[in-house]
Amino acid sequence: MKILAIETTCDETAAAVLGDDLTIYASLVASQEDLHEQYNGVVPEIAARAHVERILPVIHETMQKSGFSLDDLDAIAVANTPGLSGSLLVGLTAAKALAFALDIPLVTINHLHAHVYACQLESGQPVFPCVGMIVSGGHTHLYHYADALNPKYLGGTIDDAAGEAFDKVASMLKLRYPGGPEISKRAVSGNPKAHAYPRSFLKDDRLDFSFSGLKTAVRYSITGPGNVDPTTIELTEDQSADIAASFQQAVVDCLVTKAMQALKQTGLKRLCVGGGVAANRVFRDQLQQACESHGVELHIAPMKFCTDNAVMGAIAFEKLKAGMTDELDVDILPGLVREKV
Ligand code: KG4
Ligand code: ZN
Repeated sequence: MKILAIETTCDETAAAVLGDDLTIYASLVASQEDLHEQYNGVVPEIAARAHVERILPVIHETMQKSGFSLDDLDAIAVANTPGLSGSLLVGLTAAKALAFALDIPLVTINHLHAHVYACQLESGQPVFPCVGMIVSGGHTHLYHYADALNPKYLGGTIDDAAGEAFDKVASMLKLRYPGGPEISKRAVSGNPKAHAYPRSFLKDDRLDFSFSGLKTAVRYSITGPGNVDPTTIELTEDQSADIAASFQQAVVDCLVTKAMQALKQTGLKRLCVGGGVAANRVFRDQLQQACESHGVELHIAPMKFCTDNAVMGAIAFEKLKAGMTDELDVDILPGLVREKV
């Protein structure tokens, strides 16, 4: 069985042709980073318009690369939640048109659970049941997965997502968007203990995160008190590296601690992590160490499948196997519908 998976939840236009043995026949991601960089974040209207321009060429090129024709496809998968409304609509509309024209099933998927499913792609053995952690630009959540299609929400951020905090702190340090990779590069030469930034809820049992206070603390460490624009302050390379390293360590401490608490509370011994921030080297290394010392089996999405892509749409095979397909009047769900798969 072969499917075409489509991903347009935020600012990447992506498509992949996948086999039900998780073979990746072709995968393409058209990034819009250059369009959003000057705004230090994704501008929804620009993203939607760019998806409209890119979706058909991306699908066409992905099919060409796969060596298959549209008639070889058995289903169309598309992420219809959560995300930016205009962006989601472009992907869903293209998917519906293809499913209708080819008379094959349409399968909608939840982008967040797809991020966790990315861990299944390179693992020879089943990765479910597990605690799943999504750490992306828009989301930071913990789930208990009985299996790929049965997630139970355990907790998550009450304000900013981890990736969003990376992006905002990067802009304070006058680093490029997206900020995660830039902060991690800058942090290499910095001292992670230079600033004692706050770590929210670290000593509580609740499996939640909060990064807005951390963001404010970083801001004040640059500007001092008062309403001063941090980008007007000239920092030396060393000062900027110390801030980047201390900020990164504060985020990593929160993520690693809460992941370990979730495992303890659920009694599970397997952790799967996906989303853009999972590409962070320090996070990967420290999580690995924590898992080793707690006897936990760790699966982190392969680097290339941490940030948005359509390959993780392979979760659609789980839905197809369970007979879960969608009608052509299915809509987008921009907000987080926690347990929708
Ligand atoms: O999963 P993703 O591609 O998009 C969403 O679904 O949000 O994640 C993008 C986020 C951005 O905030 C970006 O700054 C962050 O992932 N990111 C990183 C790294 N690479 C990407 N954050 C920290 N360290 C990285 N190396
Ligand atoms: Zn994502």
